[in-house]
Parts: sequence; structure tokens; C-alpha cells
Amino acid sequence: MKPRNIVILTGAGVSAESGVPTFRGPDGLWEGHHIEAVATPQAFRRDPLLVQRFYDARRAALGKVVPNAAHLALARLDAEWRGELLLVTQNVDDLHERGGSQRLLHMHGELQRALCTACGTAPAWTGALSDDPPCPRCGAARLRPDIVWFGEMPYHMDEIEMAIGRCDLFVSIGTSGAVYPAAGFVTQAQRAGARTLEINLDPSAGTPLFDEARHGPAGTQVPKWVDEMLG
Ligand code: OAD
Repeated sequence: MKPRNIVILTGAGVSAESGVPTFRGPDGLWEGHHIEAVATPQAFRRDPLLVQRFYDARRAALGKVVPNAAHLALARLDAEWRGELLLVTQNVDDLHERGGSQRLLHMHGELQRALCTACGTAPAWTGALSDDPPCPRCGAARLRPDIVWFGEMPYHMDEIEMAIGRCDLFVSIGTSGAVYPAAGFVTQAQRAGARTLEINLDPSAGTPLFDEARHGPAGTQVPKWVDEMLG
């Protein structure tokens, strides 16, 4: 039976062919860095400059990358799919929106947004934060990257869990399944009666949990799957 309501979860693998490094693995971002040194609230309290510079460099690097065939195919599915569709990304880059996706939630925040720890506003931000610029709303020089760090609550969880509860197809693309709560979505979707599909370069820790797994680069596998869905 053809599905009607789809939830798609993406991870760093969907942006790999655009030249954005993934987190784990030999060339992964976490290879030269300790996660605890840059991606926790404690790290930010201990050495804010180090953390700001790490994210400033990643924000600046976004100017040198463009969406790949996987982002574009997911945007086409979004535009043409008549049922419900929600793209939930763990990625903090803006390649899904630049590719054209609209029904999209960033559960781990966005590189191109700052978060004011004084007034709570989250302004769009494309420049550096390491030089302590003032918040455009309250003027305090207390902006941090709007990134969900380890130990913090991911964004939009109510909306995501509601969509998973209603979906009849759950697709996970380019994620190692190492980080919760995203790694648990496949089980939640199955409990809701959905069919589950993994698309990833290699088998992941979560592969045995899925009804079907397709392995290969997202830039090839995702357009093929989208053609099938719309065909
Ligand atoms: P990972 O780096 O853990 O995993 C990336 C996955 O993508 C791996 O399973 C790779 O095999 C796969 N992959 C690599 N290249 C690919 C390609 N061309 N096509 C398809 N798959 C490919 O990244 P995430 O699972 O996204 O969180 O990591 C989850 C979270 O951990 C991130 O959002 C980040 C990180 O710590 C925070 O910073 C809060």
C-alpha cells in the first residue's frame, strides 16, 4: 500500500557529498576534537572563545558548499507529495532550505542563528560570534551559537513526536544512529505502525531495526527513492 504520511530524518551523511564533514569516522569532525571540549554547555562556560571559533569556522565554511542531489530530491518530494511530510534534520547547515525544502525542522539548531543567553532571542546570524557582538534585541554581548549541545533538549520534540505517531513511512538518511533521541525515532515509528527504511552509505548501528535498508551514497540513493515515491 502506498504511504500517505512520511517522516524523514536526515543526518550528516546527506551533506557529505556537498563537502560538509560528518561527525564520526576517519575524517569526521569529532576526530580532531573532543566532543566535551566544544559541544557541551560546560565547554562553553570553560572556554567560550574556543567554542565560538569552532562554530564560527563551520558557519563560514557554509559559504563554500552547495546542496547536492540528495537535498534537491528531498525538496522535490516535499513540493510534490500530497500527503503529510516532515523532514527532520539533525544537521545544523542550511543545505535543505537552500535545496528548496519547506516542511523542515532543525532539531539540533542552526549554524546561521545565534541565541542570546540574556534575553532568549534567536536572531539569524551569518557572521562571527567570537568577537562578542551585541544582541540585536537587548544589546547584551551574550550571544552563543543556536546549537543544541550534548545535555540540552533538542528543539521541536512535540511536533516531531506527533508527526511520527501519524506517519506510515519513516525514512532515515545519512545518520549513524548514535545520538538520542533521534536514534529512537525508528522504534517510535514502528510502534505507530509505520514501515521503516534506512538509506546510508554503510550499514549503521541501527540497520537491524529497519524493515528495509539501502546502502550507497545519498546523492545516488535518495534521488532513486524519490523517483519511486513520485513515479
Ligand atoms: P555521523 O557522523 O554520526 O554519521 C554520519 C552517517 O552518514 C554515517 O553512518 C556515515 O556512514 C553516513 N554517510 C557518510 N557519507 C555518506 C553519504 N555520502 N551518503 C549517505 N550516508 C553517508 O552524523 P549524525 O548521525 O548526523 O549532534 O550525527 C548525529 C549528531 O551527532 C549530530 O547532529 C551532532 C553529532 O554530535 C550535535 O552536535 C548535537
